[in-house]
Amino acid sequence: MRVGFVQFNPSFGNKKANFKTVENMLQSVNADVLLLPELFNTGYAFLDKKELGELAEPVQGDTYHFIHDVVKSTKCAIAYGFAERSDNLYYNSMSFITPSGLIASYRKSHLFFEERFIFQPGDTGFNVFEYEHVKFGMMICWDWIYPEAMRTLALKGAQVVLQAANLVTPYCPDAMVTRAVENRLFIVTADRAGDETRDGKNYHFIGMSQVVAPNGKILERVSEEPCVKVVELNPATALDKKMNAHNDLFVDRRQDLYFRY
Ligand code: ACM
Repeated sequence: MRVGFVQFNPSFGNKKANFKTVENMLQSVNADVLLLPELFNTGYAFLDKKELGELAEPVQGDTYHFIHDVVKSTKCAIAYGFAERSDNLYYNSMSFITPSGLIASYRKSHLFFEERFIFQPGDTGFNVFEYEHVKFGMMICWDWIYPEAMRTLALKGAQVVLQAANLVTPYCPDAMVTRAVENRLFIVTADRAGDETRDGKNYHFIGMSQVVAPNGKILERVSEEPCVKVVELNPATALDKKMNAHNDLFVDRRQDLYFRY
């Protein structure tokens, strides 16, 4: 399966420009599944709920229709992050679109920094869905710092986890190597890059989008450049949770000793 990511620097509030950028970047792409960054269509740093409300959309809003058209013309499924409006509540969300349409949506569970003032904490939970006989899971950026998020997806059978991101701290890319090894699955991170300054406040996004294999090998990792990268991976390798002849990482879990609450 050919899986990859798109990294670029979205223009705040300018969906038209961001759609055009993605359309141009995907012109001659050859992939089965591609991942775009968190909030790829709007940018990140909303000043307040009012501004967010003007840019947020229902799951099957304009951005969904744009992505679905791209998916139909490229024959490549796309997962992407966007600001969701639902009954005047807002979520930092992600959807997975195939040629036949929407097959999964996810609402960011762990909100970073000032996101908590404008978004609701996600209520979808960590769900696994199937596409082309492969089990996928989704998470958004800061979810990475809670190992429980990846573990939940792994225990539910995810073989490939797609993380849409807007990373501002340096830790995630290396942490995902450990997450991949301890859960024996593939992790794709699509980050944005560059700076966004709003009302005197600057965010620097680190880029470093990557694909990591179940053995911790970094199959692709970029710097801050806008790019589309695709790697060929064999999702079946993520079904094997054995580290060696005597250690199956899932079978060996000592649930009797772990804290429950
Ligand atoms: C983040 O969750 N966007 C850092």
